[in-house]
Amino acid sequence: MIQFISSWKSGKHSSLLLVSQEQLQSKKFNFSDKAVQADILAVKQAGQFSADEGELFPLVVGKQIVLLAGVGEESKLTGTALRIVVRKSLSSSFLKKSKEIAIIPFDKSENTGVAVIEGALLGTYAWKKYFTKNQDNQSAGEKQFLFFADRKKAYADAVAVCQGVTLARDLVNDNADVVTSEYFEKTIKELVKGKKNVSLEILNEPQLKAKKLGLHLAVNQGSVKEPKLVIVRYQGAGTKDPYTALVGKGMTFDTGGLNLKPTGSIETMRCDMSGAAAVVGTLKNVLTLGVKRNILFTVGLAENAIDAKSYKPGDVIRGYNGMTVEIGNTDAEGRLVLADAISYLVKNYKPAEIIDIATLTGACVIALGYDYTGLVASDDDLARKLIRASNDTDDRAWRMPNYPEIKDYVKSKIADIKNVGLPRGALGTCTAAEFLRQFTGNTRWAHLDIAGTAFSESGRMYFGVGATGAGVRLLTQYVRQNQE
Ligand code: BES
Ligand code: MN
Ligand code: ZN
Repeated sequence: MIQFISSWKSGKHSSLLLVSQEQLQSKKFNFSDKAVQADILAVKQAGQFSADEGELFPLVVGKQIVLLAGVGEESKLTGTALRIVVRKSLSSSFLKKSKEIAIIPFDKSENTGVAVIEGALLGTYAWKKYFTKNQDNQSAGEKQFLFFADRKKAYADAVAVCQGVTLARDLVNDNADVVTSEYFEKTIKELVKGKKNVSLEILNEPQLKAKKLGLHLAVNQGSVKEPKLVIVRYQGAGTKDPYTALVGKGMTFDTGGLNLKPTGSIETMRCDMSGAAAVVGTLKNVLTLGVKRNILFTVGLAENAIDAKSYKPGDVIRGYNGMTVEIGNTDAEGRLVLADAISYLVKNYKPAEIIDIATLTGACVIALGYDYTGLVASDDDLARKLIRASNDTDDRAWRMPNYPEIKDYVKSKIADIKNVGLPRGALGTCTAAEFLRQFTGNTRWAHLDIAGTAFSESGRMYFGVGATGAGVRLLTQYVRQNQE
């Protein structure tokens, strides 16, 4: 975990010293250890270290490592680059085995502090549950960070937010047969236990049947696990204040159904509950931060399994709001579960706005790749606020188009709407979003497609292999920046 220290001297533990080119030039440092200052200037003089972005140079002071890490020119340094430098330093061979590490940022600004905290806590996250041999890298949970900075609320909050991100990542990384709908229910119940301003509604299979959430049920038809719709009503503001609904896609595994996914596409599909995991991670954050807003945290949980009982291509299925849907492809299942969840919220909870988050389309990866979440919205103001939250947190999102004519692409010849859109290609993200929009009624709505951002097989930016927790920081910031 992380502890704050008010002075730093080399000696007791390993240290990571973030050094900017301005510091190196001016010889002004924000710590007082003269011996270390002299060493830095010596290696500079020798032409061994120039504080280029990402440049690492280890000093051994006494018996301890002091790793110098360049951040380049302060004026050109981005928050992303700083997080990447911190991750790179902490997972380098110089520090990866250290249990206790002091981190000394190059300045005392809040932005720097938050980026360093996230670089440390998110950057050293690693999923190690299934290794039977000890790994030589210490991950975030096993390291103790001593952060040389003033104790600020913003930093305590940043640490808390990282814990929500970590929860989301753990949920995504574990086996699909571990993180089932029941596991989600248990996790949520543990989070909200004893909270007075929280109430729960859980629809299990019998309730889903009684209330006719036909689309949700159809998707889960081939599974031996129970479908669930879980709604957490969090009242952080006045009783009369409007509710924001967050809705996460929780496909605990997506085989594609009878339109079975091929080898190469199916292996990572335990990540198909990343939207629900982001909602649960955000719930954790909202509870620890005591956000003053009314929020409905909703997760639609199902498993798209393949079985004799599976729903079938060509089926027409009636959703909760009465609309009929032609199943063009059983692999376009996420929108079906979300459509019922959205209809259910609109009818029974009447939220002022809905933000859904889902690993919804491979098309989003074609359109935006892995570093930007796709955002589609029917409301410009909501879209702007989400983009602002995205920029503030480095949890990246990019808006994609939504226009009236797109509704022609999800028309069906035999039902009210079809679950696959034409044409194919990158527009698939927008046609999927349009499908969802048609269930939102007049409610302000935005949609986050995290198919590219939620999970990385190779590791990207400051995230290692596996789940990234995409959306947690964005959504947490969104609800925080709009507290009354
Ligand atoms: N869960 C997938 C989308 C996905 C793809 C998530 C890659 C993460 C990484 C979704 O259910 C899906 O299969 N979508 C189909 C829709 C198509 C059949 C219209 C797709 O994108 O191919
Ligand atoms: Mn699918
Ligand atoms: Zn899916």
